[in-house]
Amino acid sequence: MTMKRTPIYLDHAAATPLDERVAEAMQPFYTKQFYNPSATYLSAREVRRALYDMRTRIAYWLGAQSGEVIFTAGGSEANNLAIHGVMRQFPDGNIVVSSIEHASVLAPARRYDCREVSVHPDGRIDLNDLKKKIDSSTVLVSIMYANNEIGTIQPIREAAKIVAEIRAGRDTKTPIYFHSDACQASNYLDLHVARLGVDLLSINGSKIYGPKQTGVLYVRGSLSLEPLIDGGGQERGFRAGTENISGIIGLATALNFVQSDRHQEARRLLKLQHQFLHDLNKAVPEAQVNGSRDYRLPNNLHFTLPDTDNERVLMMLDEAGIQAAAGSACTASEEEPSHVLKAIGLSDEDARSSLRLTMGRQTTASQLDYLVQQLSRLTA
Ligand SMILES: Cc1ncc(COP(=O)(O)O)c(C=O)c1O
Repeated sequence: MTMKRTPIYLDHAAATPLDERVAEAMQPFYTKQFYNPSATYLSAREVRRALYDMRTRIAYWLGAQSGEVIFTAGGSEANNLAIHGVMRQFPDGNIVVSSIEHASVLAPARRYDCREVSVHPDGRIDLNDLKKKIDSSTVLVSIMYANNEIGTIQPIREAAKIVAEIRAGRDTKTPIYFHSDACQASNYLDLHVARLGVDLLSINGSKIYGPKQTGVLYVRGSLSLEPLIDGGGQERGFRAGTENISGIIGLATALNFVQSDRHQEARRLLKLQHQFLHDLNKAVPEAQVNGSRDYRLPNNLHFTLPDTDNERVLMMLDEAGIQAAAGSACTASEEEPSHVLKAIGLSDEDARSSLRLTMGRQTTASQLDYLVQQLSRLTA
């Protein structure tokens, strides 16, 4: 009889398991404390208090006011609210985004007059191109904090400075805001909004060992948004609907854990990342690492195995007990190779030979040793 090994999960950029401590914190709010926080009786007031505490806890990590934390149902909604929420107020305005944004930024942005900033071969945005793309009608700039495919960390502070200078030099009444999608960054990077220089910031519960369909859009105090969902006026009127209390408890608890541990966990993963890239280079010398080596999420491993078919390699890895993802964001129904890999200059062929492996809390050195062995076997 063959023993079935526990799969090695290397797709944390797609989803993270719910932290058991988070699940425990959420549980009472499904059952005993089910009350609508807007109700008047004492039990509901306690739920309202819990909601306020969670907002305050999240605000702490953002260096923000609790009223600047807007709860959403996930990262896509946070990004959509930021973009539509601003752009619908300025019918003649345009939006500037990077060419490697997540689809939940690119798709809403492309509904308006949208200009796309090019990236260097390492995936970092071209700041000169950013300056060129912004004109007197630009009302929103959206640059992701870290990329979900190649893990490249963007120069957010520098981009924010450019936007701030343009804002300061404007003599018109046209505002210009800066949004960043931090859905992949929240486990490892600083989220302090004043240090980053952002007006809007998206966070995603499902990427930080929290519950799926939970998210936050940080909205700077003075900024007003057109709501996507109208109704009872919750969330400063930007997002109506009875609050997802258990989800919010989960998101805030999860964010607290990842942000408290972020330096230690980033150091641990960085070591694993360096070791893996070193071992891969020895075992499979033809492998090419994609994205920046220096400005990279510590959990991201992205490389091309020339002349291989990533779908086939993924199947073989799965059979060997390794769960990973293709470098491209293609789905079965989408033949187009990833826009991110194309933007950094990969040929369609190389894009289809690329893998994205994203580590997480459970990832160990021995798992990565096994991965290298398997990659070496599959490419021999
Ligand atoms: C960078 C980035 N932004 C936004 C999202 C959207 O998150 P969700 O699918 O949870 O709405 C994701 C999810 O993959 C992401 O990686």
